[in-house]
This record gives sequence, structure tokens and C-alpha cells, in this order.
Amino acid sequence: MPLIDSFERHIDYLRISITDKCNLRCVYCAPSKPQRNFKQSEILTLDEIVRFVRIAYKHGLIKVRITGGEPLLRNDIVSLISEIKKTGIRDLSMTTNGIMLADAAQKLKMAGLDRVNISLDTLNPDKYRDMTKMGNINQVWDAIKEAERAGLSPIKLNVVPIRGINDEEVLKFASLTFDKDYHIRFIELMPVRRNIDWRRSCITKEELMEKISKLGDLIQLEFRGKGPSRNYRIKGAKGIIGFISPVSDCFCDYCNRLRLTADGKVRPCLFSDIEIDIKTPMRHGISDKELESLFLSAVAVKPAGHYLNKRDKSFSVPASMSKIGG
Ligand code: 5AD
Ligand code: SF4
Repeated sequence: MPLIDSFERHIDYLRISITDKCNLRCVYCAPSKPQRNFKQSEILTLDEIVRFVRIAYKHGLIKVRITGGEPLLRNDIVSLISEIKKTGIRDLSMTTNGIMLADAAQKLKMAGLDRVNISLDTLNPDKYRDMTKMGNINQVWDAIKEAERAGLSPIKLNVVPIRGINDEEVLKFASLTFDKDYHIRFIELMPVRRNIDWRRSCITKEELMEKISKLGDLIQLEFRGKGPSRNYRIKGAKGIIGFISPVSDCFCDYCNRLRLTADGKVRPCLFSDIEIDIKTPMRHGISDKELESLFLSAVAVKPAGHYLNKRDKSFSVPASMSKIGG
């Protein structure tokens, strides 16, 4: 039975942040003031995550994405993937910065991971170090190669274009699709609590498309309704270019997702403070029936959407993407 929320949306996708730790400090993610990381005991264990996934799956959530922080920093990641896959989840993916992926790609695939999204915001090694505060881009290229070899495909590259920082690389990223069947996903900068004037820095899909159309005709591939990405192919190219535009082309009406935070809270919307704690009740011996009711109550309070594109309405800026999983 499909799971339908109060606004008639079909909820079938769960994003699970499995750690708030990260080995990079991307400009758009980490907050300006360093934040305390969760203690080990505050983070959901493998068994707790899997228990929750089983309940979610039973109610129709068939797609799971593992996020962080950086998910590969968890040392039980391979077992976690294999236990989640065993619950029946059909589409199991991960968003990673790729720094530690090269070695793990094959093991993850064998454990049941279907595909990966790798964050890569610049193709320039120096700028990469700048934008991530410490990253070595060669590790990301190795990761991409190994992920391809392991069959974690299609390889999706997440790019957040920011005015004045990496916007002059948009065409280079788009051109990668001529020879490779990568999905380049341009994600609009979302507000975070730090000194970026995001309304100024955020580059909309219209602006990107205008630039990219210099490379050739952009053929639209599918209609909206299946996830937030609006996909195109440059005529003759192998890969796909997707635009994820939460601000300029909000997809709340089609939103199909719930989030589970690393410290065990169900978050029905990224830009709302509503959170339902499932960790405390689980640690106090809640039954599966009761956990199911909690899960369904989280679906029931999922808000209609955010108001990022309305200047007169307020919204809640997440403390840090690395705590919620983007
Ligand atoms: N705006 C847009 N995307 C973000 N991400 C993290 N923070 C932001 C933000 N402020 C996304 C990036 C990255 C993934 C881990 O989370 O796409 O690749
Ligand atoms: Fe780490 Fe991802 Fe945040 Fe970058 S965007 S700091 S890789 S969690």
C-alpha cells in the first residue's frame, strides 16, 4: 500500500544520515562556528537504523539514501549497507565526498549498494582544496574510477554552483557529459548559517541553462514528478545534466521523502524544525507497533513545503547540512 501524506504526496524515499562527522569543510555546508559533534552514544547504532528501515519499508519506503556528514567515516558502513539491503530496499544509494571511496567501492557494491552520488564542486585541484578546506581532488578522481569499475552506476556528480567561486566552471562540468555517461547534478545553493549571502550567490537553473545551451541543444528528458531533478541531455552527449532547484523551482508539491538524522530523529522536511525522536523510545524498549505509530505520526506532520522563494515568509535554516544530511 503506498504511503500518502496529508497533502496527497506519495512518500517512498528515506534519507538516513549515519554520522555528523566529516573529513572536509565545504564552504556551503559547515557552519562558520565549529559545532560539537555528536558523541558516539548519541548516534543511532546499526541495529537501531536497520530496525527503523524495516518499519519504513513495510509502509512503502522502498528507496534509501545514506548520507552524513561523510558516511564512509563510519567503520560499520559495509555491514550497515548489507543489513539495509536485506530488509528489501530496492534502490540503495549513498552521497559521499569520495575521499575514502576508492578502497571501499567494490566492498560496498558487493554488500548491496546500488549507486553513489559524489560531491565535486570544482575541477581545479587548488580550488578544490580551498572550497573543502583540506581535500585532495586526486582522491575523488580515484573514487570515480573505482566506483565506475565496481558498477556503482550511474555515477552522479553533485555540483553546487556559487557565484564568484566556481560559476565559471559550469561549462567544463557540463562538457564532461560528452564522453562519459555521468549525471552532472547542479544543485542550487541553499541557505546555511554562515557568512554567505545566499540569495546573491545562488545561481538559478535558468541562468545555468542559458550558459550550457552554448554547448548544444538541451533536450529535456522527463517530466517532473519523479524526484526533484529536472534532467536534460546536450544533443549527442552520453551523460545527463540535472538541475535541482529547491529555491527557484521549488519541488515541495512532489516531495516524496523523509529524513532520519544521525542522532535518531525523523525530520519530515529539511526546512522545518519539526523532528520526531525515535531513538529515546527505542532505547526505552518501545514495541514495533509503537515504533510504527511514531513513524506514521512523522508522515502525518510533514509540512506542505518551505518558503525559500518568498521573501516575506520565514523559514528555519538548518544548523548545518552535515547534521541533517542535505
Ligand atoms: N546548498 C546546496 N547543497 C548543499 N549540500 C550541502 N550543503 C548544501 C547547500 N548549502 C549538498 C551538496 C553536497 C551534498 C553532500 O549536500 O550537494 O554534495
Ligand atoms: Fe562534508 Fe559533504 Fe558537508 Fe562537504 S558537503 S563538508 S563533504 S558533509
